[in-house]
Amino acid sequence: IVNVLKLLWRYGLNPLRMYMWVEDILDKFMRIYRYQTHDYTFSSNERLLHALGGNDFTRMLNQTIDEAMQKASFSHKFINEVVCPTMRDNYGSANDRSFLVGAVSLAGAESGLWSVKGGNKLVCTGLIYASKAEVISGTVLSIEPKTRPRSTGDPVNLYQVTYNTTAGVTGDTYDIVVIAAPLNSKIANITFKNFNPPVPEFSSPYHQTIVTFVHGRLNTSFFGYRDPSAFRFGAIFTTENPKLFINSLGVVSPVEKKGEGGKLPTQLAVWKVFSREALTKEQLGLLFSSYDSVKVKKWLAYPHYSPPEKCPPIVLHDKLYYLNGIEWAASAMEMSAIAAKNAALLAYHRWYGNAEMIDQEDLYEKLKTEL
Ligand SMILES: *[C@@H]1O[C@H](CO)[C@@H](O)[C@H](O)[C@H]1NC(C)=O
Ligand SMILES: *[C@@H]1O[C@H](CO)[C@@H](O)[C@H](O)[C@H]1NC(C)=O
Ligand SMILES: *[C@@H]1O[C@H](CO)[C@@H](O)[C@H](O)[C@H]1NC(C)=O
Ligand SMILES: *[C@@H]1O[C@H](CO)[C@@H](O)[C@H](O)[C@H]1NC(C)=O
Repeated sequence: IVNVLKLLWRYGLNPLRMYMWVEDILDKFMRIYRYQTHDYTFSSNERLLHALGGNDFTRMLNQTIDEAMQKASFSHKFINEVVCPTMRDNYGSANDRSFLVGAVSLAGAESGLWSVKGGNKLVCTGLIYASKAEVISGTVLSIEPKTRPRSTGDPVNLYQVTYNTTAGVTGDTYDIVVIAAPLNSKIANITFKNFNPPVPEFSSPYHQTIVTFVHGRLNTSFFGYRDPSAFRFGAIFTTENPKLFINSLGVVSPVEKKGEGGKLPTQLAVWKVFSREALTKEQLGLLFSSYDSVKVKKWLAYPHYSPPEKCPPIVLHDKLYYLNGIEWAASAMEMSAIAAKNAALLAYHRWYGNAEMIDQEDLYEKLKTEL
C-alpha cells in the first residue's frame, strides 16, 4: 500500500495510463494472429504494420518511444525514470528506440511472461524437429539466380545457394529461398551474385549487448546499502548516466519459481548483468562482494534504430524472401515467428497466384463481419 501511494505521489496516474496505453497497442498488434489464422499475408513490413494499427502504427517507425509518449502527454519524469530504465534493461539503450520496440519492452516489464525450462532456444530446435525439415548445418556464402531450360516449354528460374559445411564448400538449387538471419556482414555475410536489379544493402549496424551471468553475492554497499539485510531488491534499473558501467542487473530465478521471488537476493544467487562493454574484473569486484562463476555472452542483438526509418523489404527478389526486416519495428523472438509465418504465406500465395490473400485493406473490418 505504501508503494502504491508513493507511486501515485511521484507519478500521478501515469503508471495506470501507461498500462492502458500499452494494452491498446498490444490489442491492435494481436490482430496479426487473426489475419494469419485466416491465411492473409503482407508483402512489406510497412503494410503489415498498417493493417494492424493504421497510420498510428506506420508512423511509429518514424518516432522514438520518448516522442510518442510525450505526444500522448506522459510526464517527462515518468518517461525518464520508468520507461527509459525498462528499455535499457531490454534493449540496452533508451533514446534510440522506436515506438513499437518501446511498447514491447514495456509489455515485457509486466508480469505474465513465460520461459521454457532448458532455455527458450528449445522452441527453435523443437520447431525445426516438428517441421520435419532436412537441416544442412553450414554457413551460407552466396545466393545466385539461375535459369535452367526445360524440355517442356518455359525455362525455370532457380536459386543457386552455396554453403560451407564441415564437408567443405558445396551447394544446391532451390525454387524459393527464405533468409532468416540478419543481413549484416558480421552476422550473416551472404553475397548476392548477379542479381538484376541488385539486392539492396541494409547497412544499419547491429547493436551490441553484453550479458554477464554471475553466481555470487551482491556488494550491497555499492548500491548504497551498507547493511545487506536492508537490501530487498530483485532487480536494479538505471537511468542514463555516462559514469555507469551497467544497464541493469537482476536476479535470475528458476523457470518453475518465476514470479514467486521469495529468495532474498543478498543470498548466493545467479545475477544477470546487462552492459554495453564487457565488465572488467575491477567492475565485477565492485558489484559483487564475492562470486564463484562468471559467464559472458556478447551478441549483436538488434538493429541500431534511428528514426525516420524504413524497414528492409520482405521480397528481395522474385522468390527470395527476407524475415529480419521486421526487427526494425521490434526485435524479439515473437516478431521472428510472425515474420516467418507471413513469409511462408506470402511465398505460398505468390507461387499459386492468390492475389486476394496479399495486402488486403480493411482486413480487420472484413474479418469482423465474416464472423
Ligand atoms: C516517415 O518518414 C519517412 C522519411 O522521412 C517518410 O517518407 C514517411 O512518409 C514517414 N511516414 C509516416 C507515416 O509519417
Ligand atoms: C569454411 O569453414 C571452415 C571451417 O570453419 C573455414 O576454415 C573456411 O575458411 C570456410 N571457407 C569459406 C570459403 O568460407
Ligand atoms: C563477407 O564476405 C566477403 C566476401 O565473401 C568478404 O570479402 C568479407 O571480408 C566478409 N566480411 C566479414 C565481416 O566477414
Ligand atoms: C563494494 O562497494 C563499495 C562501495 O562502492 C566499495 O568501496 C568496495 O570496494 C566494494 N567491494 C567490496 C568487496 O566490498
